[in-house]
Amino acid sequence: MKIVQITDTHLSPGKCHFNGNWGPLAEWVECEQPDLVIHTGDLTIDGADLAEDLVYAKALLDTLGVPCLVVPGNHDVGHAGTAQPVDAARLARWRDLVGPDRWMADRGDWRLIGLNSLLLGLGDDEEAAQLEWLTQALAMRGDRRVAVFGHKPLFLDDAGEGETGYWGAQPAPRRTLLDLFAAHDVALYASGHLHRGWIGQGGTTALVWAPASSFVVGAMAGRVMPGESVVGAAIHHLGSDVRSELATVPGLIPHLLDDVMDEVYPAAVQEGVSR
Ligand SMILES: [Fe+2]
Ligand SMILES: [Fe+2]
Repeated sequence: MKIVQITDTHLSPGKCHFNGNWGPLAEWVECEQPDLVIHTGDLTIDGADLAEDLVYAKALLDTLGVPCLVVPGNHDVGHAGTAQPVDAARLARWRDLVGPDRWMADRGDWRLIGLNSLLLGLGDDEEAAQLEWLTQALAMRGDRRVAVFGHKPLFLDDAGEGETGYWGAQPAPRRTLLDLFAAHDVALYASGHLHRGWIGQGGTTALVWAPASSFVVGAMAGRVMPGESVVGAAIHHLGSDVRSELATVPGLIPHLLDDVMDEVYPAAVQEGVSR
């Protein structure tokens, strides 16, 4: 099974800065002829507040002509600790206009799981319900191998690191996920959000950061991170095991966020550095 992972398209009918990269991305997906496309979030620029961003981006996804699954990013459903926190209204808007924020799909010998990584660390009923659901999905996997997809990475430098704010999962839910992944032999956790490409390892689970198709981040990232500052996508080959590669997508313009930050980002998000 060949899965193309695209991420961080940051599409919007009102803020068109990155819409031009959609055409080359869609053409490349068509050429690759994957069995499935998985979008790991930040579908939009401001879907957290604007229904029209979600509607516009979902309509473009639906033109791909390949089955496509998608999980939300912080630009789509908000992020805790900002003026656009994840809340019931934002989750309802995503579920109504795009689809479930978590999902499971069995394909042959593989169980694919999509997680709403923006719930991690909220400590509310939504997070508890997702964890219960994930635990069941892993426990009932039978002989299948598992690949998990979410927006935020589990960590940046080290599985034992502390808080990284916007960038990675909080330490406690990260530990919970890594323990679950180890207990159930999860082969892959693939994410977006950092707008960087990197392939590594967390215990026995392969970790992949797919590069965004929209933009890269320069000095405003405020810290050094692993991986490459490139635009592109990722390809996962799921067979007797998983083999992943970062992909170059011809025709993508590597916009630099630093140049358009004030125009592109919702004012609320600029309180902290967010991608
Ligand atoms: Fe993000
Ligand atoms: Fe993003």
